[in-house]
Amino acid sequence: MSPRPIIIDCDPGQDDAVALLMALASPEALKVLGVTCVAGNVPLERTQRNARRVCELAGRHDVPVFAGCPRPLLLPLGTAEAVHGQTGLDGSDLPEQSTMPLQDRHAVDFIIDTCLSAGENEVTLCPLGPLTNIAVAIVKAPQIVENIREIVFMGGAALGPGNRTPAAEFNIATDPHAAQIVMEAGAPLVMFGLDVTHTVITTPLRLEAIRNIGTRVSEAVGGMLSYYDRHDPERYGEPGAPLHDPCVIAWLLQPDLFRGKAVHVAVETNSPLTLGRTVADWWGVTNNPPNATVMDRADSDGFYALVIDRLSRL
Ligand code: BDR
Ligand code: CA
Repeated sequence: MSPRPIIIDCDPGQDDAVALLMALASPEALKVLGVTCVAGNVPLERTQRNARRVCELAGRHDVPVFAGCPRPLLLPLGTAEAVHGQTGLDGSDLPEQSTMPLQDRHAVDFIIDTCLSAGENEVTLCPLGPLTNIAVAIVKAPQIVENIREIVFMGGAALGPGNRTPAAEFNIATDPHAAQIVMEAGAPLVMFGLDVTHTVITTPLRLEAIRNIGTRVSEAVGGMLSYYDRHDPERYGEPGAPLHDPCVIAWLLQPDLFRGKAVHVAVETNSPLTLGRTVADWWGVTNNPPNATVMDRADSDGFYALVIDRLSRL
């Protein structure tokens, strides 16, 4: 089978970085057509630079990196340096600058052009940050939807609490209006929210196994993840941090690691109290047809075996 064509839309971020590395390490399964960046964990100037630093770490200078929207649709940008550090990739010892060029084209136009020149149901979009770029692409060129095979995204919380506010997860809380545009677009959605990402925890043993790979990449990832999980044991009462964004890539590589349910999901865009909540009709109490497969379970040992296998390839 030929590799599945994907676009990774991201805001690196240490967990975005691991997701990128896993995808770039899997060319037989995934053809990364491009990496598009959005403002999120840190401002756009940083996320696009970080994406290039990570591609360079993977030795993949051939992958084009694009900068997209510098802010959410309606809300002011609220970044997450308290989690990811000032650079977004704190904890790694990567060179501050990348030698890889940033592409001239806007990320939104790259997404549109790529989808329009593809066949029906061909391109998979993998958003790992706020959904601003994807929403703008859909608004600008709604006809791209028919060529999108799936939008497999990290964001939201269907069953449990949020991590940005009591109600909302960071990616959706950052740009709830964009998220609602994507939910309503008609493309098949696969949602990896906190329900599932909080079941894949970077325990000290798993972190040690990553470091023990003993490569330049594993050293950088070990450093990043040690920084990234520094507050989480206290906050969540778990022995490490949830490894959110890599779930998206892990599912593309090995879908049997996860279980989910097809339900209707909508995003709250009005209430100040619950802005950005992903409201999932888990028990089918409305007549709204399912628009998303919402993942809620993972084989966490199998997940980390896959992470380690892919990082070992680089
Ligand atoms: C999401 O928010 C960001 O901090 C992470 O990169 C991930 O995409 C988790 O809520
Ligand atoms: Ca992210």
